[in-house]
Amino acid sequence: MKIPPVKGTRDFYPQEMAVRNWIIDGWKRVSLRNGFEEYDGPIFEYLDMYRIKSGDEIVEQLFSFKDRGDRNLALRPEITPTLARMANQKINTLPLPIKWFSVPRLFRAERPQKGRLREFFQWNIDIIGIEGPLADAEVIFCALDYLRGIGLTPDDIEVRMSSRKLLASVLEKIGVAEKRLEVLYPVLDKKEKVPAGEFKQMLSQKVADGKIAEKIVEFMGIKAVSDIKNIIEPDDKVNAAIDRIVVLFDWLKRMGVVEYCQFDPGIVRGLAYYTDSVYEIYDKRGELRAIGGGGRYDDLLKQFGGPAIPATGFGMGDCVLGVMLEERGLLKPAPAELDYFIACVELEQTQQDAVKIAAELRTRGYSAEFGYKSASLSRQLKQASAKNAKKCIILGDEFKNNELVVKDMVTSKQKRIKLDAFFAELGTLSTAENAESAEK
Ligand code: HAM
Repeated sequence: MKIPPVKGTRDFYPQEMAVRNWIIDGWKRVSLRNGFEEYDGPIFEYLDMYRIKSGDEIVEQLFSFKDRGDRNLALRPEITPTLARMANQKINTLPLPIKWFSVPRLFRAERPQKGRLREFFQWNIDIIGIEGPLADAEVIFCALDYLRGIGLTPDDIEVRMSSRKLLASVLEKIGVAEKRLEVLYPVLDKKEKVPAGEFKQMLSQKVADGKIAEKIVEFMGIKAVSDIKNIIEPDDKVNAAIDRIVVLFDWLKRMGVVEYCQFDPGIVRGLAYYTDSVYEIYDKRGELRAIGGGGRYDDLLKQFGGPAIPATGFGMGDCVLGVMLEERGLLKPAPAELDYFIACVELEQTQQDAVKIAAELRTRGYSAEFGYKSASLSRQLKQASAKNAKKCIILGDEFKNNELVVKDMVTSKQKRIKLDAFFAELGTLSTAENAESAEK
């Protein structure tokens, strides 16, 4: 019986693994240079944790199960609740601000489609303990630092930004009761994600008054902060929300990334815990779902039983990003390199020496490989090239006198050298492992 892979999962053969590592290594490098420290949590948590504040959509997409003690658990669909739980647990000893990053493997029972799977990796960067828009700007900068670094320009991508505070205060002015906001957000989040007719119908189910619904759609379509006054008469709450957006854009300007950013009140975010700034990054060609998204969630730690500490953060998956980079020819995983390939002209006579030399090279910190089967020298040299070997050690007739032929695979130059002299010249690479074993 042939067993297929589960729908929405991926097999990572070495080639795909190289791409995954290239993406994740980039995320990690950029996080570190922006001052974030790495953390991780368990792959499953109590199911209830995602019921507190993530929102219905994510709860519907949970892979959940009972353990042997009849406890309801779920595979993590996101890491923000885990982060809030972990931060709360040690909040009295952790120095603030907390600037942490993580690349968790996540699980969502979504309908698989281009860029959306049931198992994926997601880069998370979060700052806990800073109230003002500077922290939001730092998170956005970090995401753009990565995306800009891999070659995406303002012609390729755009950060569409808004604010839940602005939305809430405008909706209130339009005539939506405050207690209706939470049920309305997941619907408004769908505005750009479903066809216009479907959105109108979804909205009419939550907002019975057609005039109010029309105003909401009108507000979500404006292109500049200055257009808000054409929709409503701004009050203090609206003005305070606008001020924070202006300050955020100001920081982004100082950081040199404002040309990537666009005010867009159509951005709402699906998750329930966001309280203020919200943003999503999109491919400007407009064919794909969001590359990433984030925002401020000032109440989450408190809702998880901790103190009232503000927080802001962002998440980016590897799927949409991978599709987009592939389409643009920007996926550039470095090919694996090999220091030495050892070729035996007569396998039976020199295989034992080849293995011994490879073992010695590896012990000294160099990568080395040998062939398992007898093959012509030219075939073995091809094998060495296919493995990206920098040098090939050939054990031929000369080896009867303990001499190796070392071929430089780039210049094709060859030299003969005694085995002892070869290792004496070579020395030992100072890798961390070698330094450790030298100390013992
Ligand atoms: P999210 O918008 O649910 O936010 O996910 C962020 C990103 O993760 C998406 O834009 C997408 O790149 C990726 N993603 C989400 N679902 C899938 C999927 N099924 N397949 C592939 N990629 C996916 C969050 O998860 C928040 N917790 C982010 C955050 C961190 N907010 C504050 N801190």
